[in-house]
Amino acid sequence: NSTTPREVWTSEPGAMAAETAATRWPRIVQDMVDAVAQAMLSSSVSPAQRGEGEDILRQLKQLKDEIEQDEALLPLTTDGSRETKEYNTKLSSFGPITWSNSPWLFAECYLYARVNQIITSKPTWREFDVFAQQKASALAASSNAVRELSTRYMDLPTSASSPLNDTRVDSDAAYRLFIEMTQVALWGNATDLSLLSKLSLDQIHALQGAKAIEEGQARIVSNDTRAAWEYLCSVDGPRRIDIVLDNSGFELFTDLVYCLYLLDSGLASDITLHPKSIPWFVSDVLPKDVDVLLSTLLESPDFQDEDGQTQKLAQKLKECLARGLIKIKEHRFWTTGFDFQDMPAEAPDLFEELCKSTLVIFKGDLNYRKLVQDKTWPHSTPFRSALRCLCGGQSGSADGVNRKGPKILALRTNKADVCVGVPEKTVQRLESEAPGQAWVRNGKYAVISFSDGGPV
Ligand code: F6P
Ligand code: MG
Repeated sequence: NSTTPREVWTSEPGAMAAETAATRWPRIVQDMVDAVAQAMLSSSVSPAQRGEGEDILRQLKQLKDEIEQDEALLPLTTDGSRETKEYNTKLSSFGPITWSNSPWLFAECYLYARVNQIITSKPTWREFDVFAQQKASALAASSNAVRELSTRYMDLPTSASSPLNDTRVDSDAAYRLFIEMTQVALWGNATDLSLLSKLSLDQIHALQGAKAIEEGQARIVSNDTRAAWEYLCSVDGPRRIDIVLDNSGFELFTDLVYCLYLLDSGLASDITLHPKSIPWFVSDVLPKDVDVLLSTLLESPDFQDEDGQTQKLAQKLKECLARGLIKIKEHRFWTTGFDFQDMPAEAPDLFEELCKSTLVIFKGDLNYRKLVQDKTWPHSTPFRSALRCLCGGQSGSADGVNRKGPKILALRTNKADVCVGVPEKTVQRLESEAPGQAWVRNGKYAVISFSDGGPV
């Protein structure tokens, strides 16, 4: 399409995509090899599991070689599933592509689909999450920030005059609390494992906690918090909020605190969480990660504090889940190779559902790239223009129907080259402050972008 820029390819010299293909993907696959090898050391591994485990190891090593030697992306093994057909149809639509000459977003999704096929084709390994160990260690490393945030939240006054019970649009205190809680969820995204897996404990702590959040304010390079607040306050009747989750561990914890805040403040009447259904981009949330998180907070000695605030908060969350105030809903679409602008055509049921939501919050970098199609948009492109058919109106709509799009709030720390909605003057300042695209890549800058679903 001549009106939109091209997609980011791994062959682009100097692009982050090229570096990802050359060094990060092989490292991520090596980490998987290590995780399977480690699991096989367990004394409870049966002979059948051992045999299948050896086969998984062989296939993962082969995949790593294919990436390092820049071989072709092979079709997934035909297994009759819709997912496999979709991946293979999209793969063949590009013609022959290799790891270092492929559309970045698609190739990276394909990588995780391929690994999933390798592992789930072995009956004794079907339930194995190859990233579980990495996720658990990262969660343990976040215990300080988890306890600090639990105390902050549980200490909020709940009196009638508290900002927590105030959704008047012109209340300064209530708006400030909204800003704070939104930023907690935003900066929770600074610690995903696919980009930052080699951080030390000190570095993780520096990225988390109240101080980091306060200092982060100036690094939000496009900020629609006010528009989102005004919109939410203006909605009458029940407010259903959806959150398309990103990473487990600390980020999931911040998202759940955000859920509590939205429910306690009355900004949401109920919340639907959308996790992934297969191990995805190393640290993304699987449904079972929610249980893992809450039981870790309740039971692990690392998370005990004197007044038990973390456990009280975890208990509150469990109750919200039990009462259906927070629901978890899977959909196969989230782990396809499609971007979200394909949703009206490829997952119309999901699209329709999200259009009915009061607000759909998309967490993190990958979800953001899928929202704006991972294209080389000029950074000053308005967010809504880059959303195209996810905005209302007929223009850009895949099926030509004139409708209002979903109301979208993206909370994303910048970890890949695509970034829109940044005023031209800010772009110039950032180029001198964090040159060489560092401000879109290093996870230290962020965007809070809102669309009310109206036409561009
Ligand atoms: O290549 C970098 C990357 O793996 C991206 O594909 C993805 O955008 C990001 O890291 C993961 O970040 P997040 O967990 O915030 O989506
Ligand atoms: Mg992620």
